[in-house]
Amino acid sequence: MLNSEIDHKRKPSHKINSLFINRWSPRSMTGEDIDDDDLMSLFEAARWAPSSYNNQPWRFIYAKRNTESWNKLFDLLYEGNKVWAKNAAALVVVISRKNFEYNEKPSITHQFDAGAAWENLALESCDRGIATHGMQGFDYQRAKTELGIPESYDVMAMIAIGKRGPKENLPPKLQEVEFPNDRKPLTEIVMEGYFREPEKH
Ligand SMILES: Cc1cc2nc3c(=O)[nH]c(=O)nc-3n(C[C@H](O)[C@H](O)[C@H](O)COP(=O)(O)O)c2cc1C
Repeated sequence: MLNSEIDHKRKPSHKINSLFINRWSPRSMTGEDIDDDDLMSLFEAARWAPSSYNNQPWRFIYAKRNTESWNKLFDLLYEGNKVWAKNAAALVVVISRKNFEYNEKPSITHQFDAGAAWENLALESCDRGIATHGMQGFDYQRAKTELGIPESYDVMAMIAIGKRGPKENLPPKLQEVEFPNDRKPLTEIVMEGYFREPEKH
């Protein structure tokens, strides 16, 4: 069933599971903790993503708030994300191994695979009523050095995870965009047989 806040904002053009539409990326979070069980279930969902050769290139470096690790991850964020992500319950850095483990040859799909794992995590989280928000607004280079990430991995993104808060918790500019957004029409992203730019109207 579609959540009420979604109902008048997002209109799927074909019938799909409501979980896909209900997931969105709120910024307002309460600062409350989430259970370890819930957090591990999110990683469990990510674990079952498909990947080329079942190589499972994704790795997740997490920090819960009020821990030493939290400061390390939080300090990587750019100011625009710090302002709201400070109320997350956990931060996660998603990294992905560049080469296949079985032969050390470059995996052309490792980022695609890691993306599938993140979406699994986000959907499981949504199903549990916990918000997730992907972030590229942080210092990738510092993440590598300060978290001890080996050269064999690429840093993909960070994720803020937390309990939803009221939009009034946010600065005015962010309150204005605290709602589920829309998508391009299918006609713009799907093409039969060969590549075509969509017709301009
Ligand atoms: C990899 C990735 C990086 C993102 N980076 C940021 C970010 O740094 N800051 C931010 O506020 N939102 C960020 N977003 C959120 C996107 O803007 C959001 O997912 C997109 O507008 C679609 O909206 P929805 O997730 O609510 O459906 C990011 C999302 C993804 C998947």
